[in-house]
Amino acid sequence: MRIAAPIEIGPLDADAQQAVRALAAATESRDGVAPLSEQPLLNLGTDAEWITHVVAHTKAGSTIGYVQVDRSGETASAELVIHPEHRRNGHGRMLLKTAERDATLPSRSGEPGQHGKPLRVWAHGDLEPARGFARAAGLRAVRELRFLARPLDAAGAPRIPAAPAGYRLRAFRPVADDAGWLRVNARAFATHPEQGRMTRDDLRARLSEPWFDPEGFFLLVPEDAEGGPDDADPAAFLWTKTEPGQPDGARDGEIYVLGVEPGHQGEGLGRLMTEVGLAHLARTGATRAVLYVEGDNAPALATYERAGFTRAAVHVQYARP
Ligand SMILES: CC(C)(COP(=O)(O)OP(=O)(O)OC[C@H]1O[C@@H](n2cnc3c(N)ncnc32)[C@H](O)[C@@H]1OP(=O)(O)O)[C@@H](O)C(=O)NCCC(=O)NCCS
Repeated sequence: MRIAAPIEIGPLDADAQQAVRALAAATESRDGVAPLSEQPLLNLGTDAEWITHVVAHTKAGSTIGYVQVDRSGETASAELVIHPEHRRNGHGRMLLKTAERDATLPSRSGEPGQHGKPLRVWAHGDLEPARGFARAAGLRAVRELRFLARPLDAAGAPRIPAAPAGYRLRAFRPVADDAGWLRVNARAFATHPEQGRMTRDDLRARLSEPWFDPEGFFLLVPEDAEGGPDDADPAAFLWTKTEPGQPDGARDGEIYVLGVEPGHQGEGLGRLMTEVGLAHLARTGATRAVLYVEGDNAPALATYERAGFTRAAVHVQYARP
């Protein structure tokens, strides 16, 4: 007999947030893939109109499932996880139904953050349980995010490539460069559903993460007519991310975001900035470079394939057709 788990909808206090982190960690060690990505984890403490947290627990109170619905974009995005020891009991189906109801309720004002949006659900790693679950729920794959990797050779401590004529390469300066970076990021990712919508608060949240290192966040700024740097309007940027606590000799360094301002695209800056990122990561002792890219972003895929990256995993977003 299936017994519905009690669910709780609403903001998470510190203990509930910790329980969701523990659920995500237990799932990752069992499945080999983290079920919740960076943004939902950063959002665990967020109590706002555009976000809904739903927790499922046992009668004794332990957290066995979680879904987060983020309604800040054009579609509502959900990440859903059920503890491996509590699967095939209908909990996933119940949380999905709750999330869909939350997302698709008629909008009251049509403002961003309101309801009335189709729901998309991420399946990180697109493992068999997620595929079977999506099939049973009548969902179809609508978006693919690829995880690419390539080995790095730290031994040679490669030099950071020089900026081409007319440009300067330098480290990002928190606060002073915030506005310029938000501008170039929004332009470079105008059609990207999440990255292009980054706000100053999103940027600040990342700058205060333990992994943040301004030395691994490069800006390429054009020189102005007098040969000085035009700091307000960067032409390109390359942001790397290395999670602390990884052992020496087996360390992943991420090409976290690469963006080229549309007016500067086609000049080879994407390729140059990729080389900058790879050299930086190798110099910091990373043994593997990794990155995420949209499955339909042909120019970016070509840039990364040329730089030696191959596919290591795939993340899929499912939606009702
Ligand atoms: C996917 C996931 C949420 C399913 O949770 P769950 O509580 O086990 O799902 P349910 O019990 O509600 O399953 C509903 C139906 O989905 C299908 N399904 C679920 N798991 C399946 C599996 N491993 N293989 C095949 N079909 C499966 C079945 O048809 C099932 O109905 P049934 O048990 O009566 O046959 C869970 O495996 C999980 O947390 N995976 C990691 C995170 C993830 O991938 N999330 C994204 C989901 S799109």
